[in-house]
Formats: sequence, C-alpha cells, structure tokens
Amino acid sequence: MTNSRLKVLILGKSGQLAQALIANKPTPIECVALGHLDINLAVTGEIESAITTNRADIIINTAAYTQVDLAESEPSLAFEINALAVENIAKAARNTNVHLIHLSTDYVFDGKQSTPYTIFDTPHPINIYGASKLTGEKALRQCMPVGSTTVRTSSVYSQYGNNFVKTMLRLMREKSEIKVISDQISSPTSAKELARFLWMLTEQESLSPLYHWCDSGKTSWYQFAVTIQQLALKYGKLEKAISIIPISSQEYGAAALRPPFSQLDIGQSQALLHSKPWQENLESLIKRL
Ligand SMILES: NC(=O)c1ccc[n+]([C@@H]2O[C@H](COP(=O)([O-])OP(=O)(O)OC[C@H]3O[C@@H](n4cnc5c(N)ncnc54)[C@H](OP(=O)(O)O)[C@@H]3O)[C@@H](O)[C@H]2O)c1
Repeated sequence: MTNSRLKVLILGKSGQLAQALIANKPTPIECVALGHLDINLAVTGEIESAITTNRADIIINTAAYTQVDLAESEPSLAFEINALAVENIAKAARNTNVHLIHLSTDYVFDGKQSTPYTIFDTPHPINIYGASKLTGEKALRQCMPVGSTTVRTSSVYSQYGNNFVKTMLRLMREKSEIKVISDQISSPTSAKELARFLWMLTEQESLSPLYHWCDSGKTSWYQFAVTIQQLALKYGKLEKAISIIPISSQEYGAAALRPPFSQLDIGQSQALLHSKPWQENLESLIKRL
C-alpha cells in the first residue's frame, strides 16, 4: 500500500478514535468518514451499499458497541454491532477488494497473566463486550484471512467523546472526593498516538493480521486518576486538589467484570512507531485541553 492518493473510509465518524484519525490524517490521504446517521451497522444492506458507494483502498472500522457495563444487559445489540456487523463489513470489503483495518480490545483477555499479552496469547473474555469483540475478530479472520488487520488497544483517551480522562476532570471539578478502582492494571492509550499508528499501517506495503497498540507502561485506574489530577493542577485545568480514594473492583460493583491485568505487548508494533510513555501522552493532552 502506498499513501499517494490513497483513499481511506473511516466507519464510526463521531467516535473518539475516528475524530482523532480525522484530526491527524496525513495530508496526501483522501478520507471519507461515515457515522451512525450515514450507515446503521445494525442494517446489513446499509453496510454493503455504503462500502460500495464510498469505494476506498482501505477501510478503518472504529465503530463499535463500546458500553462495557450496558452490554451485560444488552448482549444481542453488542453482538449485532461488534460481531455480526463486522462480518458484514468484512464480506463487503472482500467483495470490493478493500483492505479492512478493524479495532478490538484488551478485554478479549481474562487478565490472569502477569506479563503483557502478546498477539500469540489465547483470548478468553470475561464479559459480554469482550466476548462480542472476540467473535467479531474471529468472524473477520474467517471471512478475510487475507486482506484484513485487527488492532487491539486499551483504555483510549482523548479530547473527544467520553473517556476516563474527561470523566475524571469533570468529577474533580464537581466533587470533593472520588473513589477509583486500584486493582485493574492496563495501559492507557492516547487516541492521537493510536491514530498515528493506524495511519502508519496504511503506509505499509504489507500488514500482519494482528497488532497490539497502547501507550508504553502500565497503571491502575487509581494511579491514572492521581496523575490526571497532578497534571491538571500543574497546567491550571483544575483549581484545587480533591481526595482520590483507591477502592477494589468488588467495592465499585460494576455490572461487567474486567480483567485485573490487561497490558498489551506492543513489541512488534514498536518497529513501526515508537510508543511513548502514557504519562508523556497524558501530559501532552492535558496541556492541550
Ligand atoms: N474507548 C476505549 O477505551 C477502547 C478500548 C479498547 C478498544 N476500543 C475499541 O476501539 C474502537 C474505537 O473506540 P472509540 O473509543 O472511538 O469508541 P466510541 O467513541 O464509543 O465510538 C464508537 C462509534 O461507533 C458508532 N456506532 C455504535 N453503534 C453503531 C451503529 N449501530 N451503527 C453505526 N455506528 C455505530 C457510534 O456512533 P454513535 O455515537 O452515533 O452511536 C460511535 O461513533 C472500538 O472498536 C472499540 O471497541 C476502545
């Protein structure tokens, strides 16, 4: 693949990753983005006609059912968007000879490991969202053993949409104390850096079927929140510090179980793009907010 006049179709236009992709698009690439209003992924016919009409060299599918807790009570919808729609996108991409880059998650793993998950580790999801995303990955691979690429990522944050950083900053302005889970470890991922990695993939002559991408390093949600507060105070985005109290996942009582450890091994991806420490990427975002 070469990026001269390369045409890329992004699905999931209003999501945070799609927004970061659009904001960081390399100039020579032509890009069309479609959102929920242009294409409802729950409607098979809409997928095929949108992909045929907006003929591209590469599709990046960022659209997904991403509400991890709600998925426990809406499993059919989660599977419809994260698995069935992915299969239908793959069929349409295969029929039109378009390379499909699809996003997946660290939540395909159960979190029992204590070392970063490699692309060779066996997934074993422990919640509906993770199971639906893994079913989507498998459907993609089966439908497009050649010509498709899955990129797993974790804990994405940005200035766009809903994410942990924005929620923490809002709560830190509204409350005098917050409780944050300290027994789940993962790697935060800057949507901007993930977007840079995805654009880097579009420039490669050939792609592997699977990549992992996240910021370097790992942290708990609690330590992430503490760092967000420190940086927000440093850059004048918060007026005063509040108490941040570490709690267990059990005490928090979310509807969905989460893996206690889901850091992704990004060794193979680092050969394409250097992944910066999460603290550095977080600082750069908070300065920009
Ligand atoms: N966010 C994270 O922490 C995280 C972590 C690991 C992996 N990922 C993966 O990374 C990818 C991008 O995530 P993100 O954070 O950008 O998610 P996001 O902000 O929730 O965006 C997802 C997009 O999917 C669209 N969508 C949902 N249902 C749809 C439907 N039926 N038809 C058409 N569009 C639909 C949504 O549109 P509406 O808003 O209009 O419904 C939204 O724009 C996803 O594959 C996600 O699973 C994310």
